[in-house]
Amino acid sequence: MKKAYIVANFKSHKSRLEMETWMETFELLIRQNSIPEHITVVLTPPMPSLMYVANRLLDLSHNIALGVQDISPFSEGAYTGAVSTKNLEGFNLQYAIIGHSERRNYFHEDDDMLAQKVIQAQSTNIQSIFCIQGEETAIPEGVSLVAYEPIFAIGSGHADTPEDANAVAMHTKANSSVESVLYGGSVTAGNVTSFISMEHINGVLVGGASLNAHTFVEIIKKL
Ligand code: PGA
Repeated sequence: MKKAYIVANFKSHKSRLEMETWMETFELLIRQNSIPEHITVVLTPPMPSLMYVANRLLDLSHNIALGVQDISPFSEGAYTGAVSTKNLEGFNLQYAIIGHSERRNYFHEDDDMLAQKVIQAQSTNIQSIFCIQGEETAIPEGVSLVAYEPIFAIGSGHADTPEDANAVAMHTKANSSVESVLYGGSVTAGNVTSFISMEHINGVLVGGASLNAHTFVEIIKKL
């Protein structure tokens, strides 16, 4: 079985209470269908639910990891509102999504800022899940895990073709330090197998279909 990542990106959805309900349902479901060893699940909850999810994960299988959807480009200091790697110490945080197109678009994050975020992650052994929108996206040095997320496919119900995603993944690996490429953009239980069966695709990043724990577990079961 091919090693595969599945990342849940909850974005700015879910109150703290809704996140609790999601976790309770998720836990129930994965106790019934344990997650196979070849799969790494990464949960990136909204920041106010991070502590709660971190605590729940202490009781769960080791192949479910904690991530964040963004980190500050700065280390600790006078940066009001930003969440630094210092703030995240002690959470057993393993992954950070960096450079999602929604961050680039709505928060005006540019290549320089994203490179700073990657440096912050590297300095604390947090693995970046660096988002690229296509082959032309600049990838900071040392990034080994990338998510290819074409903008037209995000939240649209129109995923890219597996062949196209595979071609971008192959090109990315051939031209950078990247070792693993995930696909993101309208992934569902219905299409996940077609992506994961592609030679150069090492997992998926799931937005909308992760918001319901049942739907998310259905996707995991296909990997
Ligand atoms: P989607 O989002 O699965 O809702 O298309 C993916 C993402 O933006 O990470």
